[in-house]
Amino acid sequence: MKLIVFIISLITCSRDALAIGQPASLVFTETIGALKLSDTGSALPIIIDTKDWPGVVHAGNDLANDFGLVTGTKGKVTTSTSGLSNATVIIAGTIGKSSLIDSLVSSGKLEVAAIKGKWESFTSQVVSDPVQGIQSALVLAGSDKRGTIYAIYDISEQIGVSPWYWWANVPPKKKTNIYALPITKSQGPPTIKYRGIFLNDEQPALTNWVRANYGKYDSRFHAKVFELLLRLRANYFWPAMWDSKFYVDDSKNGPLADEMGIVMGTSHTEPMARADKEKVKPWDWKNNQNNLKKYMQDGLTRAKSWETLWTLGMRGDGDTASPTLDAKSLVDVINYQQSILKSTLGLSNLSGVPQMWCVYKEVGGYYQAGMKIPDDVTILWSDDNSGNIQRLPLPSEVNREGGAGVYYHFDYVGDPRNYKWINTIQLSKTWEQMHLAWQRNATEIWIVNVGDLKPLELPISHFLDMAYNMAPFTSPSSTDTWLNAWATREFGLGVATGTAEAMATYGKLIVRRKYELLNRAPFMLSTVNYDEAENVLNEWGALQNKAQALYGALDAETQIAFFEMVLHPIMAGRIVQQVYINAARNSAYATQKRMSTSKLADDVRAAYAQDAVVQKRYHGLLNGKWNHMMDQVHFGYTNWQDPGSNSMPSVKTIGTTAPSAGILGVSVQNSAASTPGDTAPTLSGMDPYTPENRTIDIYARGSGSMEFTITPSVSYVKVNPSSGTVSYPSGTSDIRVTISVDWTSAPPGSSTVVISVTPKTGTPVKLNLPLNKLVIPAEFKGYIESNGAIAIEMQHFRSRTPGADGSTVEIIPNYGRTHSGLTLMSSTASTQTLASAPKAIYSFYALTSSSNAKALVYLSPSFNVNPSAPLKYAIALNQASPTSVSPVPSTTLGTMPGGWSDSVVNGARVVSTNIGKVDPGKHELSLWLLEPGTVVHRLVVDLGGVQSSYLGPPESTKLGF
Ligand SMILES: *[C@@H]1O[C@H](CO)[C@@H](O)[C@H](O)[C@H]1NC(C)=O
Ligand SMILES: *[C@@H]1O[C@H](CO)[C@@H](O)[C@H](O)[C@H]1NC(C)=O
Ligand SMILES: *[C@@H]1O[C@H](CO)[C@@H](O)[C@H](O)[C@H]1NC(C)=O
Ligand SMILES: *[C@@H]1O[C@H](CO)[C@@H](O)[C@H](O)[C@H]1NC(C)=O
Repeated sequence: MKLIVFIISLITCSRDALAIGQPASLVFTETIGALKLSDTGSALPIIIDTKDWPGVVHAGNDLANDFGLVTGTKGKVTTSTSGLSNATVIIAGTIGKSSLIDSLVSSGKLEVAAIKGKWESFTSQVVSDPVQGIQSALVLAGSDKRGTIYAIYDISEQIGVSPWYWWANVPPKKKTNIYALPITKSQGPPTIKYRGIFLNDEQPALTNWVRANYGKYDSRFHAKVFELLLRLRANYFWPAMWDSKFYVDDSKNGPLADEMGIVMGTSHTEPMARADKEKVKPWDWKNNQNNLKKYMQDGLTRAKSWETLWTLGMRGDGDTASPTLDAKSLVDVINYQQSILKSTLGLSNLSGVPQMWCVYKEVGGYYQAGMKIPDDVTILWSDDNSGNIQRLPLPSEVNREGGAGVYYHFDYVGDPRNYKWINTIQLSKTWEQMHLAWQRNATEIWIVNVGDLKPLELPISHFLDMAYNMAPFTSPSSTDTWLNAWATREFGLGVATGTAEAMATYGKLIVRRKYELLNRAPFMLSTVNYDEAENVLNEWGALQNKAQALYGALDAETQIAFFEMVLHPIMAGRIVQQVYINAARNSAYATQKRMSTSKLADDVRAAYAQDAVVQKRYHGLLNGKWNHMMDQVHFGYTNWQDPGSNSMPSVKTIGTTAPSAGILGVSVQNSAASTPGDTAPTLSGMDPYTPENRTIDIYARGSGSMEFTITPSVSYVKVNPSSGTVSYPSGTSDIRVTISVDWTSAPPGSSTVVISVTPKTGTPVKLNLPLNKLVIPAEFKGYIESNGAIAIEMQHFRSRTPGADGSTVEIIPNYGRTHSGLTLMSSTASTQTLASAPKAIYSFYALTSSSNAKALVYLSPSFNVNPSAPLKYAIALNQASPTSVSPVPSTTLGTMPGGWSDSVVNGARVVSTNIGKVDPGKHELSLWLLEPGTVVHRLVVDLGGVQSSYLGPPESTKLGF
């Protein structure tokens, strides 16, 4: 009976109690056997032993406050049960620190076997008659300090207080009734031992905000950050460093971290808990060793009694290589650091002392040179600053005592270009890389550079949720599931699906190119081919409309949080896209002598002005709570570094004098020509399967107005509109005519139709439109060629086959620039051979023939994380023998592989492989994935018709899907 109740309540409550990815222990409607916690008007006592950790009391006070936010009546932290006759209470405490918890354990009322002695674990249980006079209590017992703290914040999150209630203004979800289920919930230890964030590149936004609110990076500021981290179940922190000194700026900073339960670290360039700004000069181990030693010893002495993960090694000044350091002297540095750790901490060995050495930039070169690093030091592998992990533990490195970890970036200052304005992270990509890191046992430390923190709420939550517990993240589709849970927690069930879709789409749009890189010449999107520039702008517009509609459905309080985390990045991002895309279109229109060139110039100016309006809106929220958080310059980059101020791209205007060639101009897709003047272009061909609509643009090239008619030479081709007037400056300067074909009436086979655009005065422009009426066999399932190209999205395979070892190719939804990714699972599968590898088959139907067709394979810009097992795939047409490709050139650790810069700028590495002769008819393209970590996110078969564009042709028409 009890078991049934238990299962039913879990099902009914799973949507109510929102702790992302974690089982619920509370419900909000009366449930058999559940303990009522909230009671109108009386404060819920939260009992914490006087001897327990101060950090536990701190969290307990937050929980008491959270009950107030949710029910209107705050809880009350007390140290004893006396005077609480018959009340319902929460008892929170740490095994070995709380006499109350210890007595419940020894009397057999509390079962802690599942967590005792484990790292950061807790159990929560409803206990009857826990102490004299108390009928029932919800008991939260932690295995250690943070175990208890996480147990407490778990209740906060479940009752409806988001970890982001302060940092992103997520309103607490009001409730009148809260019940604890009669279940035992045990959680921990976390998947990753040390999980945290690095505040970096914090000028101007965060620093200006801190100055305005706290004067400097003081303990009041850090209390807010630490609380957020603990609510997000993180435990590790690298402080801001460019113009601050954590331990010096406020002498309360160090003790506060320790008291609240945060393990302090320092960045890769700041050894022994000292700040970069405290460095002795010259910062030179070879020539100034005694002073450097003293500097390190002093840092250790200062922080020795606080929980610290010691950063070892050293780099040069200001995030650069040290000119006098080599692999041998770096070993001396580390030996010295370990010797003072032992002497200062009074230990004979350092096996219980967390220490890390970060293989960042040039440091990789020392490791590559054979540098031996003590076994008890965690090796912290780095990404390339753009989200691609450079290296992971090799089989020979997985059994090191100190293990390994990952230093990752959501924000960066440096090559190829800074990105520090707003969120530019594709969550599915983060999942793919961190899942790989987890599987390859880089599980000791995950730390992520989060820039100013504030604009990166979403990727921070995602990263830390994975680090805490990877169990719900084993499937490639877990990102979407998580996004739904995240959106439900922050904004409620009503908008969750839409919000999750919107943010998954945002990830795809932004992984194409970061905002700061949008002006890198040549302009990335084609203003000519495939209507690419306009289509991309329309995608952003549709996304913003969707976000705006979701926003409109929310109450005023929730709208603020939604604006900060969803609507703002979408809206502000769309504006930057509009500025650059329409500036490029403006330039193309000027060449075509369109009078509307000036309208596009106005549009660019208006969008650019809108950017400042949206910034102001953000800064004005809640009476300026987040003023300065959007101070970052984001327009007008010319190299990797920030420009001094925003600047609008230049735009052209056009005079009003009619060119001699006539005031009515005609242009078509896939051609830059403007006729008369340029030779009339041939329209791209159409068949019943063509994925895009054909259009003709008719526009004013001078002042005045001009009537026109447009007539196809046959009746089964229709144009809409078939006549009109273009005029300038008043009236309609540009008219887009859509062509459609009534295929039932069209003759079979190839034909050419002439479409005449006839101005009232002047010569008609005659456009040829090639048609091809064909019928694809009904049983065909797959893609149809269009104008010499087949563009394939990975999810739409015809079939797939597992590998001999049970490995499979799997879809990562919403991955890459357009649709989805194809990856090899499991991530620990060994290198596959062609004979036994899993594969996916994509079928296509060719309409033309090509003697040397090519397959363009779009890959993520990932690295060969194991240099002796480089990323690899193979591709073959039909029964041809497969071509194996290792797309990423080998490189030495610390240097970037060939093609790296373009691949991270473009969000894709594109590799072309000849696939031989293709005849009209159906074909199969097989793709084998031969090494885990290889992710393909698009395939384009080029039969000679692929036009230059950034994303490639739009997805071809597919049948049978
Ligand atoms: C204690 O509480 C229970 C249930 O809330 C109630 O049935 C009982 O009468 C109370 N006892 C006293 C002494 O108030
Ligand atoms: C390291 O020192 C601890 C006590 O500080 C001791 O218990 C442990 O056995 C030592 N380990 C080794 C490998 O010497
Ligand atoms: C990771 O560590 C576990 C436990 O030590 C081990 O069983 C597994 O083989 C390791 N994985 C890899 C990829 O080395
Ligand atoms: C083509 O036009 C039709 C009818 O106007 C429209 O429904 C469809 O969305 C258009 N397709 C594209 C790719 O624009």
